[in-house]
Order: sequence, then structure tokens, then C-alpha cells
Amino acid sequence: MASDLQSVLTPNPSIDFDSIKKLTSTEALEVDQLIINELSSDVVLINQVGHYIVGNGGKRLRPMLLLLAAKALGGVTDSHLILAAVIEFIHTATLLHDDVVDESDLRRGKDSANAVWGNAASVLVGDYLYSSAFEMMVRTNNMRVMEILSKTTTAIAEGEVLQLLNCNNPETTETKYLEVIARKTAILFSAATRLSAVISNSPSATEEGLAQYGQHLGIAFQLIDDALDYKATKEELGKNLGDDLAEGKPTLPLIYAIQNSSKSDADLIIDAIKNGNRDAFAEIYSIVQSTKAIDYTEQRAEEEAQKAISALAVLPDSEYKAALIQLAQFSVQRNY
Ligand code: IPE
Ligand code: IPE
Ligand code: MG
Ligand code: MG
Repeated sequence: MASDLQSVLTPNPSIDFDSIKKLTSTEALEVDQLIINELSSDVVLINQVGHYIVGNGGKRLRPMLLLLAAKALGGVTDSHLILAAVIEFIHTATLLHDDVVDESDLRRGKDSANAVWGNAASVLVGDYLYSSAFEMMVRTNNMRVMEILSKTTTAIAEGEVLQLLNCNNPETTETKYLEVIARKTAILFSAATRLSAVISNSPSATEEGLAQYGQHLGIAFQLIDDALDYKATKEELGKNLGDDLAEGKPTLPLIYAIQNSSKSDADLIIDAIKNGNRDAFAEIYSIVQSTKAIDYTEQRAEEEAQKAISALAVLPDSEYKAALIQLAQFSVQRNY
């Protein structure tokens, strides 16, 4: 593992997210136009909330992966563009719902939609985005696409419910935690890259390789998201730190810190998970640092990124494949 991992472990200063983004910037504009068209409902609140959340940016990482994979496979078709918009819609719907469930009031550096319009509006507009995504998906007229996306949204919902069951449970294991993030986050990344192969009529080995890439990248991405909750600054992240603790969410940094600290420190974390409050955030933050729980979480993410990169062996070399490799590294090295 050591030598293979080294290339990923060594911070790569050449990862420049903006130049990777440029590789698909023309297509991304078309995807944005599809998204904007789809938000134009005659129901005013849908327009308002939809444009608010979509207009506040976001990295657009999932559509970017889909488009880069399409280019690595020979080219972007209309169906790829539609599916890139579909994936971003599903992602945005999960964020609207997630901020209600997590009671988060900051998203993408702005007040979250639930903070502005309330929980009901966020849940209902999230539902609209989900339904709209399915309406768009049908336009591809492809039964495999529909099968993949409907299984994906079912798995995301299962992941979210599993996570709810783990909340306030300090006995949650790393394995159980990994089951949650595989479903709630990684499966959507995996669907994005798999769909590219399906639309490009790629051989099944290529489809599987791309799906594996998305799955491992997605796990790495969520591991880092959970590390950033104890690491980044609010300004970098555009989200509040400590939201996971406030919700009693047993993420890997806490699971590891419980197992690797003194009884009194572990008890403090256990208590915070059981009661779901951020009162002890400062103290828990320093326990997390001193147990090297963030290093451990990042190491696990780096291993997943390496698996993602290995899975790309199914693609011929191209600048798009190189960009996909860099995005796996970005997912681990990012601070936002
Ligand atoms: C946030 O995803 C939700 C997670 C799965 C961690 P992103 O970090 O991709 O969110 P945006 O779209 O860039 O805001
Ligand atoms: C992401 O989970 C939500 C989904 C993947 C559905 P989080 O709750 O960790 O995401 P953030 O940190 O609020 O973006
Ligand atoms: Mg959240
Ligand atoms: Mg989070």
C-alpha cells in the first residue's frame, strides 16, 4: 500500500480545481441552462427557493464528473447534459432536506433555505426538485438510466434513515458509519459516473470501473466532509462547524477519538453524542486533534481516493482521465 499511496498522500500543489472545471465549462453552461429552465414553475415559492439555492453556487462536482467521464469516453451527448442536470437536482434536493434534518442554518456561505423560508418550504421544494429530476430523466427514454437513478434515490433515503438510527448512539462502529456514507453520499457520485458509461454505450467493464471510481471517490468525499466539521473554518466551508456534534452524529472523527482517548475524554464525547449538543465543541475539538482522529479520517479517505484512481484503469489515457484522477485527489485535499 505504502508506495502506491504515496502519490496521493503527497499534497499535490498542482491540483487546480478551476482549471479542471474549465475542461467542461461549455457543457456546464448548457447544464446550468437546463437547471434554470426546470426551475421556472408558476408557483412563486418554487422559483424563489430554487433559484436561491442553485444561484448560491456549490462546486458542481457531480455533474463535472459525469461530463469528464463522457469526454473520456468520446463525447458529451444531449442525454449526458440532461443527466448532469438530473444529478445536480437530486444533490440539491438532498441538501434542502439535509439542512432541515440537521437544523443547519448556513449553506454555501449564506443562510440556508430553511433559515430563510422555514422547514416546510425546504422540504416541499426539495420534493419538487426530486420530482423534476425524474421528469427530466424520463426524457432520456432509457430504461437502464431510470433503473439506476431510482435505485440511487432509494439508497440515499436508506442512508439518511440509517444515519438517523445511529444518531445519539455512541456505540456506532466505523463499519456502520461506512454503510451510511456509502449510501447517503457515495451512491450518487457512482450513479453520475456510471450513467456516463451507460449513455456512451460502453462495455460493462468500463461501466463497472467508472461506477467503482464514483463510489470510492464519494466515500473519500464524505470522510473529508466529516473531518472538515472539526477542522475547517466556517468561512472556508460556508457551513457551520460542529453541526454534526450538535446533532449527535457519530462520524468517524468522533468514533476514532472515543476509542483512542482517556476514559474521561471518551465519556465527554459519548455524552455529547447522546445529548446532541455543541456545548462541549471546543473541548471535543481539542480531543479530536490530540487523538489524531482527523489524520486517521484523512488516511482512510486517501485510501479510498487511491482505489478510485485504480478503478480508472478501464479508461484510455486522456486529459479528461487525468482530470478525474485529480478530482479524486481534490476530494481528499479540499478545505471547502
Ligand atoms: C455537500 O456536498 C454534501 C455532502 C455530500 C458532503 P458538496 O460539498 O458537493 O456541496 P456543494 O454542492 O459544493 O455545496
Ligand atoms: C450530506 O450529509 C447529505 C447527503 C449526502 C444526503 P451532511 O449532513 O454531512 O452534509 P453537510 O455537511 O450538511 O453538507
Ligand atoms: Mg448536514
Ligand atoms: Mg457534513
